[in-house]
Amino acid sequence: MMALRLIFLGPPGVGKGTQAVRLAALHRIPHVSTGDILRTEVAAGSDLGKKARQFMDQGGLVPDDLVVAIVARRLALPDCEAGYLLDGFPRTLGQAKALEATLAQRKENISRVLYFSAPDDVLIRRLSGRRACPKCHANYHVETLPPKQAGTCDRCGSALIQRKDDLPGTVRQRLDVYKKQTEELVRHYAAEKLLSEIDSTGTVDLVGAAVERALAP
Ligand code: AP5
Ligand code: MG
Repeated sequence: MMALRLIFLGPPGVGKGTQAVRLAALHRIPHVSTGDILRTEVAAGSDLGKKARQFMDQGGLVPDDLVVAIVARRLALPDCEAGYLLDGFPRTLGQAKALEATLAQRKENISRVLYFSAPDDVLIRRLSGRRACPKCHANYHVETLPPKQAGTCDRCGSALIQRKDDLPGTVRQRLDVYKKQTEELVRHYAAEKLLSEIDSTGTVDLVGAAVERALAP
């Protein structure tokens, strides 16, 4: 089977992480989320975490050089040899170019870029009700996707948290930053003929089915 190397692109709250966890398990490829890696570093209080924290809490982007280094290190681990799912990376044209250089070195190609889209009001509703597992990175929603037991992760039993950057002021800033710095990647990957747009306004299962259709041979 051909190695599956995917990029999940789309605005904050659209459901990238939710679909990524499912798809990565289905295809047995690692789910590489720069957001999850950064939050783990912040929680551990590492040097990297200390540098990243201010940008994340304010809803801005962490500088390209830091994020590019994180991804290069992650892709060098043996579990990425048979494919991977990049969730939330690249997020700037600079990161996309750096990824292209890394891929050329590894003699690899991206199989597909899935662009998840939904209107702002849907994104804001999803982000404001989100609860996240700090340990296994499963996502829940207080209304649409509640855990079986309130406040507890179904998968690993950890206490769920509300992300600091999901507070209303920061959400607006993140949507703004997405439009200014990330949205141009949609055109970039469309020009490369790699883009599939996934209407993400429906339920988790409907969006999941659209993902499978987009990846069908
Ligand atoms: P990151 O963690 O990547 O956050 P994001 O892109 O803002 O996206 P989210 O994780 O908020 O949303 P999602 O699309 O994964 O949605 P989810 O599945 O959770 O980045 C965080 C920060 O880290 C950035 O702001 C930046 O500072 C830094 N960073 C990360 N990567 C970087 C990079 N490459 N460069 C620079 N800085 C970087 O779903 C959201 C909610 O909706 C959940 O509650 C879920 O249960 C619910 N939901 C999902 N799907 C559905 C559905 N179909 N119907 C109803 N509810 C749904
Ligand atoms: Mg996410």
